Parts: sequence; C-alpha cells; structure tokens
Amino acid sequence: MIAIGCDHGGLDIKNAIKDYLDKAEIEYIDYGTNTPDSVDYPEYAYKVATAVSKGECEKGIICCGTGIGVAMVANKVKGVRAATVTNEFCAEMTRRHNDANVITMGGRVIDEATAVRLAEIFINTPFDGDRHTRRVDMISQIENGEFSC
Ligand code: RB5
Repeated sequence: MIAIGCDHGGLDIKNAIKDYLDKAEIEYIDYGTNTPDSVDYPEYAYKVATAVSKGECEKGIICCGTGIGVAMVANKVKGVRAATVTNEFCAEMTRRHNDANVITMGGRVIDEATAVRLAEIFINTPFDGDRHTRRVDMISQIENGEFSC
C-alpha cells in the first residue's frame, strides 16, 4: 500500500503517478490535495508521513513545487526516511542504500513522465542491506537520541 499526497504545486505529477498506480494495479491511499487551490504543504506531507510511520502504508510519495518542503516535514516524523529525487539514479540509490520509505518530488522541477518513472523505480527497487543496514540503523539511533560518536 502506497500513501500519496501533494500540495497545489505537486498536483499534476501526483495525478500522473496515480494513473500509473491504477494501471499497475498498485493499491494506494490519496491524502490530497485534489484541487489546484493553494494549500499548506505541511498538512499533506504530515498525513502521508504519518501513514508510513504507523505502518498503515509501506511507502509514501509526496509532491510539492520543489519536493523540498514536504521532505523537511516528512523527515520530522518518526521512522520516516524521506528523499527528494529528481533523477533515476537517485531514486534507485535512495532505496538501495538509504532504505528510503518516502520519496518527494517537485512538480516545478520534473515533468510528469519523469515523476512516474521515479515512482516506479522507488516502488520496485529493494534495499541492499549489508553495510547499509548499519548506516540506516545509525539514522534511527540519532532520531531516538541514542547516537554518539
Ligand atoms: C508552494 O508555493 C511551494 O512553496 C511548495 O509547493 C513547495 O515547493 C515547498 O517546498
């Protein structure tokens, strides 16, 4: 189950991703927004990130104008590792090395076809594990105030 959401700046790419998910028969929950009216991106990013944090959805995709604001919000939610992606290499590597459970994208940065391709890579690429597990665990330790070096 994928959690998906956006603000007005990310609406068009979110809708393109939803079309892809429908065609691929991948289940998702759309947390809005669903109109071009101006809204506050933290609300939508928080809803998607919380669904992932609670385990209600396995992964999340959040779109805004740049992908940056929603990533800042999502990374404040416990257990969320959100990465802003603009190209195929980063979409792949943030799954393989960072075990990202959320990606964010900007509707004013990439076109709809690119957004769909990056979503597809994010959904289908597994985590490499091995030494990357230790590093991802360190992120969790920092989040929990358990890290020192
Ligand atoms: C909205 O104008 C814009 O600030 C938002 O979509 C996003 O880019 C913020 O990071």
